[in-house]
Amino acid sequence: MPGPFTIAIDGPAAAGKGTISRAVAAHFGFAHLDTGLLYRAVGARMLLGQDPAEAALGLTAEDMETGDLRSPEVAQAASRVAVMPEVRDALVDFQRSFARRAGGAVLDGRDIGTVICPRAEAKLFVTASAEVRARRRYEELVASGADVSPEQVLADVRERDARDRDRATAPLKPAADAIEIDTSDMSVEAAVAAAIEAISKRRLG
Ligand code: CDP
Repeated sequence: MPGPFTIAIDGPAAAGKGTISRAVAAHFGFAHLDTGLLYRAVGARMLLGQDPAEAALGLTAEDMETGDLRSPEVAQAASRVAVMPEVRDALVDFQRSFARRAGGAVLDGRDIGTVICPRAEAKLFVTASAEVRARRRYEELVASGADVSPEQVLADVRERDARDRDRATAPLKPAADAIEIDTSDMSVEAAVAAAIEAISKRRLG
């Protein structure tokens, strides 16, 4: 099995990081970790009354499958626990060891290229306008049966972006050596192709 190779994919809420990361991981035969799900699982536990730092320290594989982690309420709770340094610290080791597993790894989140894996072999920063991101998320949520309005989803995306960008610990921002991909006017296929092309260049050095 080939040695470690880390692909860091960061970007604001609902930018399409998940879709791109899954496709990139499948293309290269790498494992994929959606780090947002870790914060969502901690946020869900906070909504149940648990202390967020304790929840982060005691996170189990089962927590990642419990409840509706994709709901807007859990997304907001995730971004509230994500400002807490104790919560972020508790999740660092797991993310770093996943990143260096043999065979290669794709991690998507907000601070992968800046804080978790500053020496990742390839870094992408995936963006799109807030309106485009909110529309995509609205369509996803409606398809999954959620009762939401487009205005609510746009407000949620904007609120989380502001909280993620303005926090003191590991704020959302592109790493200096990240390749930026603006997917506002791109199809999923075009965005995935652009990501694979950018990563392939780094792979070949
Ligand atoms: O899918 P979406 O982009 O809407 O969100 P997500 O990636 O599941 O992340 C949910 C929340 O977790 C974000 O709004 C961030 O506050 C937080 N998060 C973070 O702080 N750092 C990460 N590496 C991943 C997520």
